[in-house]
Amino acid sequence: MSGEKPLTSALSPQAGRGSRSPSPSPRVSREREGPAPPGSARSAARGQAPAWEGEGQRSFIVAIDGPAASGKGTLARRLAERFGFAHLDTGALYRATARLVLDAAGDPADPATAEAAAHRVDPRLLADPRLRGDEVAVAASVVAAIPEVRHALLALQRNFAAQPPAPAHGAVLDGRDIGTVICPVADVKLFVTASTEARACRRVKELRAQGAAAIYESVLQDLNQRDARDSERQAAPLAVAPDAEVIDTTTLDADIVFERASELVARTLKEKEWQ
Ligand code: DC
Repeated sequence: MSGEKPLTSALSPQAGRGSRSPSPSPRVSREREGPAPPGSARSAARGQAPAWEGEGQRSFIVAIDGPAASGKGTLARRLAERFGFAHLDTGALYRATARLVLDAAGDPADPATAEAAAHRVDPRLLADPRLRGDEVAVAASVVAAIPEVRHALLALQRNFAAQPPAPAHGAVLDGRDIGTVICPVADVKLFVTASTEARACRRVKELRAQGAAAIYESVLQDLNQRDARDSERQAAPLAVAPDAEVIDTTTLDADIVFERASELVARTLKEKEWQ
């Protein structure tokens, strides 16, 4: 892969409140299968020590989930910057898996091929611009539906959350299953959504700003298809954690969303006397 970037560019350094009118209508999820996350009730019940126990300050974890083009990535980056936390765009892990499969002319739908690629994902390459293409986006949604792939990427995500790269003492992870599966004990959980039409408009603007010829109808159709694939798959589908703050950004300015999320993080930091 080209364009190697430092870890921190792609991986840069609780709620239950808020409006509840997400669009599209994601499922409300209970914690799903998978190894117990560090520090969770399940890991404690199994006698596992939390990853940060005995190592001083534990990591403060912000989980942000939501559908494609909802603005969660930008929000995650801004929150990480404001609070000095590390950021992990978990969608990039699935995209990197897909890229590795495509580069080897493999079939993204083949579980063994995709799982092997997931094990080879190098977190230092998540900022590769080649991960952003349409072909990779489609293949990423195919590999993301394979349970073995999700399992292969689990430890990396949980380790990042529990032990973010220094000097950060907290982590912001954005994706589809962060609050439900990856970090069910996150300190703050946000579910960022918007109507499909609003998301399509934003995506069209974004693409045109990059000089690409974007047609609203085909962008809308693409988003509908991606929503369906992300929400309807068996393995860790897009879902709202029961204790997540839902922010519907359809009519909200990105700065207002950022301020609202920042307030929630600041309040939770204070409540937990986290420093
Ligand atoms: O957010 P994105 O478009 O970069 O995500 C790429 C694909 O990966 C998309 O189909 C959703 C999937 N994904 C996932 O299944 N779980 C995550 N935590 C993040 C992304």
